[in-house]
Amino acid sequence: MLSENPRDDMKEILFEEEQIQARVAELGAQLGADYKDKTPLMICVLRGAAFFFTDLCRRMDCKMDMDFIAVSSYGHGQASTGAVRLVKDVSIDMTGRHVIIVEDIIDTGLTLRYLTKLFKARNAASVATVAFLDKKERREVDMNVDYSGFVIPNEFVVGYGLDFEDYLRNLPYIGVLKEECYS
Ligand code: IMP
Repeated sequence: MLSENPRDDMKEILFEEEQIQARVAELGAQLGADYKDKTPLMICVLRGAAFFFTDLCRRMDCKMDMDFIAVSSYGHGQASTGAVRLVKDVSIDMTGRHVIIVEDIIDTGLTLRYLTKLFKARNAASVATVAFLDKKERREVDMNVDYSGFVIPNEFVVGYGLDFEDYLRNLPYIGVLKEECYS
């Protein structure tokens, strides 16, 4: 059960809003420089990456366009289903485009591996991956991100787009949920 005050449900805050925004600004500056004159097609992986995506794109000083894709990963609870299913596809043709996939977190690596393969098969000129958080220890497939915000330990985190049973995405910080919230 979650309480009415999200801060009460946190065992620990990993990153406060200021830290998150500072790191996003760094990543945006780097990506903006790397993709200058390439007009990247920015792809937001819904729903978790929504906040990171809009913050990051505003920090990239280059011409770009954007599209949105939704895949199923976690249902209710914390266990990954293993399978990745396309729930909503993009609408922009990516043939010959420099695509940047923006994810909230890379965990097992299954989602980003699936999307990278899919976009390469659609003849993108290049496919890069960005994940705000990287849970390196949990990787199940050989998949690395090209750009990441922070590497974190193997703990279930919420906030800044990441949810627990669809709640807590709106928190401006990233925290670790107390175990008692799961029961
Ligand atoms: P992967 O396919 O296992 O790499 O999982 C990626 C997806 O799992 C992310 O886009 C999240 O939606 C979800 N996920 C993984 N770890 C967490 C977590 O700690 N909190 C919330 N969602 C998570």
